[in-house]
Amino acid sequence: MKLRKIMIIGVGNVGSTTAYTLINRGFCEEIALVDLNKELVYGHQQDLLDAAAYRQNMIKVSLREATDCADIDIAIICVTAGIAQKSREEELAGTSKIVSSIIPGMMKNGFKGIFLIATNPCDAITYQVWKLSGLPRHRVIGTGVWLDTMRLRRILGETMDIGPQSIDAFIVGEHGDSQFPVWSHSSVYGINLNHLEKRQIDFDQLGDKARKMGFEIASRKHCTEYGISSTIAEICQQILTNSHRALALSCILDGEYGYQNVAIGVPAILDQHGIKKIIELDFNDKEQQLFTHSIHIVKNYIKQLP
Ligand code: LAC
Repeated sequence: MKLRKIMIIGVGNVGSTTAYTLINRGFCEEIALVDLNKELVYGHQQDLLDAAAYRQNMIKVSLREATDCADIDIAIICVTAGIAQKSREEELAGTSKIVSSIIPGMMKNGFKGIFLIATNPCDAITYQVWKLSGLPRHRVIGTGVWLDTMRLRRILGETMDIGPQSIDAFIVGEHGDSQFPVWSHSSVYGINLNHLEKRQIDFDQLGDKARKMGFEIASRKHCTEYGISSTIAEICQQILTNSHRALALSCILDGEYGYQNVAIGVPAILDQHGIKKIIELDFNDKEQQLFTHSIHIVKNYIKQLP
C-alpha cells in the first residue's frame, strides 16, 4: 500500500483525536496539522510524535499552513468557531465563515486531493466546500451519517447481541435531527430487519437513540470526539486502500434520488478517487417522505451560507 499525506485543518478535540486515531491505524506517511493556535497545535504535534514513536513505520507529524497543500491526498475539515459544541445548526454561521477563509487559498495553491468534511452542520458545509473549491463532486465528501449509521449498528448489536460489523443497516439524510434509518434495506445475516420484528424489538426507538446519541454525549462532555474520529479515519482508510466499500456519506447529488445541488447522507461506494458511485435505494413511501423532508432542511441551511 502506498502511504499518503493527510492534512487536518482545525486541531481541537476532533482534529487531535483524529490525528491520534490515524497514527494508530498506521496507514499514513504524514499527518499535517493546521491550526491558528500555534501554542496548542505545537503541544498536540509533540504529544502525537511521542505516540508515533511506538509505530513500526515512520509517521511524520508536521505543522503547516492550509495553503501548503499541493502534496496532500486528503484534507480533513474539522474547524469550529467555538470551543464547546453548540447545536449543529448553531455552528453554521461561524464555521461557514472560517471555511470561506480557507478553501480558496488552498485551491490557489494547487490542492489536488480530496476534501473530507467533519464539521457541522456537516451537509451544508460539505456543499459549501464543494462550491468554494470548484472540485468535481466525487472529491468533496462529508462524514455525514456514517457516524450515525455506526451508532445504529452498535445499538442494534447491543440489543441483538450481534457484532456491529455483521449488521447491514443504514441511516440516510441529514447529519442532524431529520436523519432516519432505512429499515426496508436493513438486514442481519441476510434476514431483513422487518422480518425480525417478532423478536419484540422496537426498531424505531433504537433509531431514535442513534439519532440523539451525538447530543447525549455532547451534553455531558461538551463535545464528541472518539466516534467521529474513528469515522474520519475509517473513511480515509477506505479511500486510500481503494476499498470500494459502501458507506453512508454526505454526497453532492446530481440527479440521484431526484435532487441536485445539495449534499445529503446516502450510501456511496468509495475508491481511491473519492466517491465512485452513489447507491440509489428504493425507498418505501414513508422513507421517501422522510428523505424529502431532510432534503428541505439541508437546502434551508444552504440558503443561509455566505
Ligand atoms: C456527532 C457530531 C460529530 O454526531 O456531530 O458526534
